[in-house]
Amino acid sequence: MPKRELLNELYGRYINEFGDKEIVLGDGNIDSEIVLVGEAPGKDEVKLSKPFVGAAGKNLSQFMDILGIKREDIYITNVIKHRLSKINPNTGRIINRAATKADIDAVKDYLLQEIRIIDPVYVVTLGNVPLKAATGDYGISIGTVHGQTLEVEVLDKVYKFFPLYHPASIIYNRSLKEIYLDDLKKLSQLIKG
Ligand code: URA
Repeated sequence: MPKRELLNELYGRYINEFGDKEIVLGDGNIDSEIVLVGEAPGKDEVKLSKPFVGAAGKNLSQFMDILGIKREDIYITNVIKHRLSKINPNTGRIINRAATKADIDAVKDYLLQEIRIIDPVYVVTLGNVPLKAATGDYGISIGTVHGQTLEVEVLDKVYKFFPLYHPASIIYNRSLKEIYLDDLKKLSQLIKG
């Protein structure tokens, strides 16, 4: 079956399971050598039905400029394809919440199948959540593996993973920016071979 049909079938199953939630599916070039995997969509992503279009997306675009990669050339997705939200008890507003192990467990098989269908050369993970979901290792931490190439078995095939910090973490922790730029240089060299 063509990739598009396989993906549509996979996404259809996701929508059946989580249809009461605000869902944002993967987006981009399904034949790309690079798949970028984030955590979960936020408010802006839900509004535009596209991953990484809010504040974290702006940072991501800057980093892709550094790599000389265009957004439309790669495939961008999230581990959790629906918004994780809660009510802020102080303001009564709906805000994003962090993914729990149960959230990741509930969806990680979809991510593994998604990666196998797209079958890229590199999987670039952003932050801890995709790293934990794809490896199944909840003890793994971005702080110790960022900027390195990892071999990760996804279903029946080994892929090259390149973990980066989540672009949102640079917004909250400016001191990570230098590290991030260094990691991006390494990724750029890896991609250019
Ligand atoms: N937007 C996304 O789509 N994913 C993230 O992980 C963060 C922001």
